[in-house]
Order: sequence, then C-alpha cells, then structure tokens
Amino acid sequence: MLRFDNVTFSYPGSAPALEGVTFEVNDGEKVGLIGANGAGKSTLMKCVPGLLEASGTITVGGLAVNRENLAEVRRKVGYVLQDPDSQMFMPKVIDDMIFGPVNYGLSREEAEAGADRVLEDLGITRLRDRYNHRISGGEKRMAAIATVLAMGPDIMLMDEPSSSLDPRNRRALINTIKGLDRTMLIASHDLDMILDICSRVILLDGGKLIADGKAADILRDRELLEAHSLELPLSLSR
Ligand SMILES: Nc1ncnc2c1ncn2[C@@H]1O[C@H](COP(=O)(O)OP(=O)(O)OP(=O)(O)O)[C@@H](O)[C@H]1O
Ligand SMILES: [Mg+2]
Repeated sequence: MLRFDNVTFSYPGSAPALEGVTFEVNDGEKVGLIGANGAGKSTLMKCVPGLLEASGTITVGGLAVNRENLAEVRRKVGYVLQDPDSQMFMPKVIDDMIFGPVNYGLSREEAEAGADRVLEDLGITRLRDRYNHRISGGEKRMAAIATVLAMGPDIMLMDEPSSSLDPRNRRALINTIKGLDRTMLIASHDLDMILDICSRVILLDGGKLIADGKAADILRDRELLEAHSLELPLSLSR
C-alpha cells in the first residue's frame, strides 16, 4: 500500500535527514514511526505527498510519487501535520472539514453529513461551528484530525496526533483510530498510544531505519529504546 525504497533526503546545506530508508506498510496495517527529536519522522512523512522531494522511490497504492502523479497521490493520502496551524485555512472548523470532500465532488449536504459523523465519533461536535483562530491548541489538533478523517483517504499519515490533547480527547482519538480499517503511519513520542494502536513499529535515528518489527517486541526492548534516546512506554515500565 505504501512503500519506501532507499529514500534519502537532505535539507539544503545539511547532512542527510533521511538515508536509505526502506520499508513498506501493508494494506490495512497501522504502523508506528518512532525516534528521538530530529530523527527524521516528519521529514519522511512530508516526502509521501511530495511536500519534499526525496531520492529513491516512494509508492502509494502502486503509484510512484513524482510530479506527474502528485494530484492522484494526494487524493489517496490524508496527512495530519505536526503543526495544526499550517493545515487549517478556512474560517470555521466545518468549512475546513467539507472543503476537500466538496472539491472531490460531494454535495454540501453530503459533505456536512460525513463531517458530522466524524465530529460525533471524536466527541467534538461542539467545535463544528467554531472559528479556527478562536479555539485552543488541543481543540485545533482535534479539528485538524477530524478534517483529514472526513476526507476518508486510503492511507493516513499522522504526525504527533496526540500531542497537546487532554486525556479524554486522547482516548477518543485512540478509539476512533482503532475503529478505522485504514492503512496508517503514525509518528509519535506517545509510545503508550503506539503500543495501543499499532501492530508494527519502525524506529528511526539520525535519518536511518534502525528497527522494523512487532510493536510488542520493539516497545518492550529497553536496551534498544535507550540506545536511541527513547524510554519504555509507561505501561511497560513498571
Ligand atoms: N526545514 C528544515 N531545514 C533544515 N533542516 C531541517 C528542516 N526541518 C528539519 N530539519 C532537520 O532534519 C532532521 C530531521 O527533522 P524532522 O523534523 O524530520 O525530525 P522528527 O523526527 O520529526 O523530530 P520531532 O520528534 O522533533 O518532531 C533534524 O536534524 C532537523 O534539524
Ligand atoms: Mg516531527
């Protein structure tokens, strides 16, 4: 469903932020992407919808990410950015949520019905008609996630989806994600959430893939995690 083959990327004038990263995410699989600050998680995600142009090959549902295929690739991929502010551009939450679906041909009524279902699933119906610039940081993150869910993409990339969420919103997010039969790549420092949601984990350090395996194995491996500046999930550290 999603393949990275020898993906390498350097920001101008810097050492490589990604070096020869190779792995694939199978249809319907939920994969956690972990690694210390600066490991390359966000950079890797940005290469998928072509926000950054990497060398090597990335394929999305069999389609290579290149300039010709970009529109089609972006239609398949939903992306929750690490910074929700750079994702919201309509005045109200509901406007943002229906923008994509209406653009892809749904009527306003159909798009609103879909958006309302997502808001209800996430327990944030109260944010529906609020202005994006007048809601809190955590509310904005929930709204950004809702916007991507409302698009119903084949593949979802989520960069730090649980950061700044209170416990109830974090739980609502986890339950919603678990209930979705969707291919997902989730970058996070919230290793308890990763353990709860993901069957597989990829560990990055210094732009290189260090480990790729079962979440239950990698997230239990104290030595491996500590060697790469991480710690055991709280639920496994007692
Ligand atoms: N716009 C940029 N220009 C130059 N270097 C950058 C830029 N963005 C990120 N980097 C560098 O690329 C490397 C990977 O950064 P990236 O944002 O992918 O890390 P990350 O794993 O997402 O970290 P975090 O956990 O802090 O979100 C880091 O060394 C970072 O300093
Ligand atoms: Mg990041």
